[in-house]
This record gives sequence, structure tokens and C-alpha cells, in this order.
Amino acid sequence: MAALDPEEIVRFEAEGPAVVLLDQRRLPGEVAYLECRTVDELADAIRTLAVRGAPAIGIAAAYGIALAAARGDDLQNAASVLRASRPTAVNLAWAIDELLPEPTVERARELHGDEVERCRRMAAHAAELLRPGTRALTHCNAGGLATGGYGTAVGALRAAWERGLLECVLVDETRPLLQGSRLTAFELEALGIPYSVIADSAAASMMSAREVDCVVTGADRIAANGDTANKIGTYSLAVLANHHGIPLYVVAPTSTVDLATPTGAGIPIEERAPDEITTRFAARNPAFDVTPAALISAIVTEHGVHRAPYAESLAALV
Ligand code: MRU
Repeated sequence: MAALDPEEIVRFEAEGPAVVLLDQRRLPGEVAYLECRTVDELADAIRTLAVRGAPAIGIAAAYGIALAAARGDDLQNAASVLRASRPTAVNLAWAIDELLPEPTVERARELHGDEVERCRRMAAHAAELLRPGTRALTHCNAGGLATGGYGTAVGALRAAWERGLLECVLVDETRPLLQGSRLTAFELEALGIPYSVIADSAAASMMSAREVDCVVTGADRIAANGDTANKIGTYSLAVLANHHGIPLYVVAPTSTVDLATPTGAGIPIEERAPDEITTRFAARNPAFDVTPAALISAIVTEHGVHRAPYAESLAALV
């Protein structure tokens, strides 16, 4: 199976009308589509991770605003329902704000196309950071599924592979919902990139054994000072990478950069239902953590490679 086209991941269908999503909850076992005919159905699909990943939920919400307009719904209400569906990824609010002045399918498709193009550009920049023979470690899923096409961190690995720079990828399984072992492995297999899924807790000893040359992740929200929210476990990887002298690169579009939030302390962290951890015992389930900017070797956007001090290098983006 080849990499998925953007419209195979999320699209608008005039028949219905509906926002149609590749249901990521059912991957890799089953390729099934979910038709959302109302904004409430789409918000539920975002909340329950039928579509997930920061840029992809933004794109889905953009189509959702176009859906609301096509149905003659109250747009402000549609915007607040979608905005409330997940709190951490800033792409969601960003895409809604982009669509409200022009809530058409054409504008949503344009935003989708632009996000995929940003991925291609940032991937080319990020690939320049990798040396020949790189063994990379990635966390969660930051591939085409998470971005509506191509991918951010996985896009970078894809570009590096095409340039002959990548030897293999270690894929954190990413507890508790296994976006790594279900989705990233599925994508790397389709791309023909050598990979091995590892238990999240194996990263430390593999770094210590010098089996990891760099860590490459996506992001859900990057504060103005470079502090970065991403899937829970990213912060642990950053501490480990720092301890072992291994660079950690964050690859994300400018739609993930939130200059209105000064530091990571201001990023809302989603706490999901405890039954995603265990249905038998008491549990806590924070879905994201914040990696301090000091542990990030570079942030790569479609504009290039940004280095510390991020307050300056990111401010130059606007
Ligand atoms: O809870 P998820 O699966 O939506 O979390 C996604 C992640 O944390 C991704 O790593 C992040 O959105 C970057 S996607 C390009």
C-alpha cells in the first residue's frame, strides 16, 4: 500500500453534505470511513480521535465550518462546538479563525492544500539536519494521518529516506492509545522505510547503547518561547536525549506556533478519560506534556530551521 493522498484522510463531500474522515481508531486493522453530516458529529469524531493530530484536526474543523455554512447553521455556535472538542492543539482554533471570514468549501480545501504544502517544505528543511546513516526515534504519530497528508516529523523522515540519509526509525508505541505502533508503523511500512516499534520505556536503554542518533517529533502547540506541547512522553524523551547528548528536533507548521501564549505554562493540557489507561483501577490520563525549549535542539517550520533563543527566532515568523 502506498502513502495516502490528502483526500483519503479527510475531505468534504457535497453529497450529504458531509465531512468524510478516514477513521483512525480502526487502523491498522481496517480502512473505514466516517461520514460526519453535522458539526456535533464532527466534534464527536475529533474528541474520540477518529481524526487526530494537530494539523489534521484543524483541517477537519475547517471543513466543519464549511459544512455548517452549507447547512445554514449558526456559524458562531459551530465554531464554539468545534473549538471545545480538544484543547491542546492550537491548529484547531487557528483553522476555525481562518474559515470564519470565508466559510466555503473552496477556502477549506485551500487551507488543507496549504497545510500539506507546509509539510513538504518543512520536511525538506528538517532533512538537512540529518547525517547519512541516521537512526531516528519518533513518538506518537506525526505522519500524513496527523496532518491531512505528507506529515511533519514523519514527513521529515520520509524526505531524509528519499535523500539516502536515513537508516531506520525506532517508533515509540506511545501509550496509552498506541498512535506509534498502530499509525506510524502503518505509515512507515507503506513508505518502505525500515522501522521497529519499541516500548516507550525502551528508549532510555537504546539511547545508552548508542542506537539512536536523533529524536524527531511533531507538536501540538509551540509557545512563543519555544516550549512545546506534544503527546505525553515527549518530555521524557527530551530529558533522555539531553542526558545522552542526542539532538531532539520538533517539526511543525506555523499553524502550530502560538505566539499569544508566552510559555508552556499557558498551554492547556487535555486530560482524557481514565478508562483509556485501565477500566479496573483509578487512573489519571494527561494526554500531552510540555517539553521546555532548553531541551529542543531545533524547531523546524515551513520557513526553515529555527534555533534558540526561540523567543527571537519564532517571533521573526510573523
Ligand atoms: O492525541 P493525538 O493523537 O491527537 O496527539 C497527536 C500528537 O501529539 C502528535 O504528535 C502531534 O499532533 C503532532 S502531529 C503532526
